[in-house]
Amino acid sequence: MERVATGVPGFDGLIEGGFPKNFTILLSGSPGTGKTIFGLRFLKEGLDNGEKCAYITYSQAPKDIQDQASEFGWDMSRLEFLELRPEEFEEALAGKHYNRIVLDSLSSIAVMTRDSLGRFIMKTKEMGCTSVLISELPKESVWLSRDTISEFLTDGVIILKSVEAAGEVKNLLKVEKMRSTKIEKKSNIYSITDKGFEVKSYLAR
Ligand SMILES: Nc1ncnc2c1ncn2[C@@H]1O[C@H](COP(=O)(O)OP(=O)(O)OP(=O)(O)O)[C@@H](O)[C@H]1O
Ligand SMILES: [Mg+2]
Repeated sequence: MERVATGVPGFDGLIEGGFPKNFTILLSGSPGTGKTIFGLRFLKEGLDNGEKCAYITYSQAPKDIQDQASEFGWDMSRLEFLELRPEEFEEALAGKHYNRIVLDSLSSIAVMTRDSLGRFIMKTKEMGCTSVLISELPKESVWLSRDTISEFLTDGVIILKSVEAAGEVKNLLKVEKMRSTKIEKKSNIYSITDKGFEVKSYLAR
């Protein structure tokens, strides 16, 4: 199975070297956990390999996203920004050949029905694209996404959490699901620094 490296330091080793090509991955986490930064790093990896990459955003202006990337020294000038409503996906993506797409975020689309999400996933798979769908995750949620559907429709689910224990805040990343891949369902500590998103180690028991 062909793997698509995310380029996120410390992460690809958790999933046999990268996302299986053509997969749709749900990246879910509470506000400020680094979802956008993770998504940008994934796209930067593609751009560095000469791939065609797009960012579909609703919540932030393209300039803000570019500014965020340049904070980490990432040149993303070749990144394409698409402003598409769910009902426009099919037509807008027809005949396009993106290698990587990040959609930020599912939660900021007012109505993303099971149908339009399903069509989006199918369309991106058809074009050979590997995509990351970002979702907000309310802190105490028993579901894995805000819409409670996308965790079932997607091929993989990554959960980001910030937890406080003994007065210390820890950022935890868990690969909850990754079809066709051996995963260990452990929480890994990650950090966000001037270099971006980095997965450090398993959480010590
Ligand atoms: N240079 C840096 N060093 C350390 N932390 C940083 C740096 N730049 C950004 N951060 C942290 O990254 C976090 C924001 O990351 P990001 O925007 O990816 O989160 P998010 O999950 O997408 O948030 P939202 O839910 O608001 O969209 C903030 O908490 C911020 O403190
Ligand atoms: Mg964000």
